[in-house]
Amino acid sequence: MNKITRRNFLKTWQGVVGAFATLATIPSLYYWWWDQPHKPNNTENWIDLGKAKKIKENLWLKRPISFDIQDRWKTRTIKEMLYVFRMGKSVTILSSICPHAGCLIKTENNGFICPCHNSFFDNKGLVVEGPSPRPLDSMEWTVKKGRLYVKYEQFRSGIGTKELLG
Ligand code: FES
Repeated sequence: MNKITRRNFLKTWQGVVGAFATLATIPSLYYWWWDQPHKPNNTENWIDLGKAKKIKENLWLKRPISFDIQDRWKTRTIKEMLYVFRMGKSVTILSSICPHAGCLIKTENNGFICPCHNSFFDNKGLVVEGPSPRPLDSMEWTVKKGRLYVKYEQFRSGIGTKELLG
């Protein structure tokens, strides 16, 4: 039978304290991990915006979109408004999320305005005045079999370059 020496006791005690200290970090690690931006598994979200030719020309149109993404183990529904402009075969699609701090822009005076801090963008989405550090974010698009598809992406706000979120 092993004799309980002071040394053995201290070793065991250190092991127990170490195990508890490790276990104590699990909740904080979990919450840290949970707060990180989660990259959706389906990183390419091509959304059907309907027949391209049916989109009125020379006019900014609002197009609400909604789709589900798998975010780790749960499904989230993304809802957003896009602005679509068509001139013949050329299309421009802008996010309605202001690059300054993420408020929703709206059309005004042949351009766009953000009601939060009054950034004003011209009808191409370029900054005319206000604190927005970059133009409105344009989205990639394609036409397949006559239907317009947009590649939906979200970008980091508050910085001068267009960086993907996630
Ligand atoms: S969030 Fe749009 S100007 Fe600040």
